[in-house]
Amino acid sequence: MKLFLDTANLADIRWASQAGLIDGVTTNPTLLSQAAGDVDPRDVLKEICSLVDGPVSAEVVAVDAEGMYREGRELAKLADNVVVKIPMIEEGMIAVRRLVADGVRVNVTLCFSSVQCLIAAKAGATYVSPFLGRLDDVGHEGMDVVREARIIFDNYDIETEILAASIRHPRHVAEAALIGADVATMPTEVLKKLLLHPLTDRGLDRFLNDWSKLASRAKVNA
Ligand code: G3P
Repeated sequence: MKLFLDTANLADIRWASQAGLIDGVTTNPTLLSQAAGDVDPRDVLKEICSLVDGPVSAEVVAVDAEGMYREGRELAKLADNVVVKIPMIEEGMIAVRRLVADGVRVNVTLCFSSVQCLIAAKAGATYVSPFLGRLDDVGHEGMDVVREARIIFDNYDIETEILAASIRHPRHVAEAALIGADVATMPTEVLKKLLLHPLTDRGLDRFLNDWSKLASRAKVNA
């Protein structure tokens, strides 16, 4: 399963990319508005694309098909690795078909059911993004959408990738991987947590402690 970072924070993206931990990045208007400040968000996106050896999702903010299509075409010009993010609405599906016909890769976002994922895949999306955490927040089982979408896509040999989004903790990542999601995108804090286990730290402390005892004994015997 590929791991994407869900942020527009350049320092975080630089760190994760240089550490070889990520295969791509997803952004959204909220994340870009937080990271860009007074800077033109297109410049931030270009910088992100230069830092990552993999797809970078950039979202349109128009809500009509023509506007989404035009905006998507402009975003796709920013860099070769841009994937245009289109919301899962009726007008959005028209824009998806037009962008895909032009050779632009699309990530359909704000998916909250497996049938929405199916509709987006039939429109030609490269990725569909079910939002796990936001479903969990309203008392649903977000992972069910990934589970159902996986079965549906496998039933019909649909190549659209399932990108598990709105990930809140490492267990979401593990469960998405067990189900067979193609990608999980997560905030920096969750990516960092994937590296950690208290028994790893305790084990390393013990190894180093025992080794230092050996080293000091060797010194005495020398
Ligand atoms: O970028 C899409 C999605 O991952 C947002 O997640 O944490 O705002 O629910 P969140």
